Amino acid sequence: MKTNKNGKPEKRETFSTSLAVFFATLGSAVGLGNIWKFPYMTGMNGGGAFILVYLFFVLLIGIPIMLSEFYLGRKTRSNVVGVFDKLKASRFWKLIGYFGLLSAMLIMFFYSTVAGWVYSYVFKALRGDFRSLSSMGLAEAKAAAEKAFETTAGGTYEPMVWQFVAVFVVAAILLGGVKKGIERVTKTLMPLLLTLIVICAVRALTLSGAGEGVAFLMKADFSKLSAASVLAAMGLAFFKLSLGMGTMVTYGSYFNKENNLIGTSFQVAISDTLVSLLAGLAVFPVVFTFNLAPEGGPGLLFATIPLVFSLLPLGNLLLVLFFLLTAIAATTAMISMVEVPVVIFMEELKVPRKKAVLLITGLMFVIGVLTTHPQSLFGGVTIAGKSLFDLFDYLSSNILMPLGGLLITLFVAYFVKKNELIREMTNNGHLKTAGLVTLLQFVLKFVTPLLLIIVFLNALGILKL
Ligand code: TRP
Repeated sequence: MKTNKNGKPEKRETFSTSLAVFFATLGSAVGLGNIWKFPYMTGMNGGGAFILVYLFFVLLIGIPIMLSEFYLGRKTRSNVVGVFDKLKASRFWKLIGYFGLLSAMLIMFFYSTVAGWVYSYVFKALRGDFRSLSSMGLAEAKAAAEKAFETTAGGTYEPMVWQFVAVFVVAAILLGGVKKGIERVTKTLMPLLLTLIVICAVRALTLSGAGEGVAFLMKADFSKLSAASVLAAMGLAFFKLSLGMGTMVTYGSYFNKENNLIGTSFQVAISDTLVSLLAGLAVFPVVFTFNLAPEGGPGLLFATIPLVFSLLPLGNLLLVLFFLLTAIAATTAMISMVEVPVVIFMEELKVPRKKAVLLITGLMFVIGVLTTHPQSLFGGVTIAGKSLFDLFDYLSSNILMPLGGLLITLFVAYFVKKNELIREMTNNGHLKTAGLVTLLQFVLKFVTPLLLIIVFLNALGILKL
């Protein structure tokens, strides 16, 4: 056992309250996915109809896996590799931990690149770079906004510097540890994010195109709901809640023992969905007010948003607020990602936190910079027609995470005794949720794995519905 300076056993840190647990976990779930993925996917796949399907999968995939991860973490108070030693499971299950380690690294290579772009946009909006767009004709302004993004992402040194800033901020937070780092930062920044997103949504909803924007996002149109959109909703429920790579195992290992795991999972899933909807409400009314076509992905975030926001009165201020909230979302998600390998290094290899954080973030920065910028050393390399940026995304989101999620589900469903699961989930009988746990175990045994296999085969392109 590890000891501190006085030779006493070192206590593993935990979050201090259930509110801290909530904000940290929500901070992981809320990320770039809420802003550039969810709203657009919803709009394109039948609005309200898609939201219903999404919520259905949150119930059958998202919450069950999240609870499995919380269970493993809080029960063992261990990192995602060590969990399986503590539970005396065979070595095979440690694969879950190694997959998580690998996913965290791969995601960080490109997520920190995008976070760097977001940080640079906060800076550029503050400097007033986008002000000139409002005095141009629409076509000209559109071209200028796209050009601004090309310079940000395609430059030689600029993206590297901003990626460094993003990784540096993550390192600085994680050096503070669980309470003074993760807890303190998420407890301050998540309420700020929620306030900013409400301000942006309220402003957008008072515009002339608000009706059309809201209809795009919310109006239930079942005719647009194809088999492909159902599959997309399943994948999204999984990705949105940061599942399958041990993030929730790691955070779960810091939950206080009074925390109601089931309650937390529902609160986080619902709040995360609300944040996504608010993001859509902040963006689409503006897009429709200026008669532009809604876009998805980086185009929406880095070209359309600066363009349309700059056309509003006080638009530049709004733009600063919007990119600031996006930067917060990306940062609180990244800290939960990087914490996974950090604790594995701390506990499995006995590396002190400071060394582990510097080593891992250093590696993330160096490999990230060398591989994910078009101008960098390996930036031009393609494998199977994919750039390294896309390859890392594909491997982590489509292979490692669904596989990790499946293994976690099967482990908790078939290797954890029902009484044991009930004991942990009800906090030793203090909560009257034993019935829900029985239901959970049923879903974990028979429903979630089946759905996950479908997601997985679809992601690999094997299944074509
Ligand atoms: N939930 C994050 C988002 O919406 C993305 C994500 C997926 C993630 N897996 C993760 C974040 C693991 C942190 C850790 O953007």
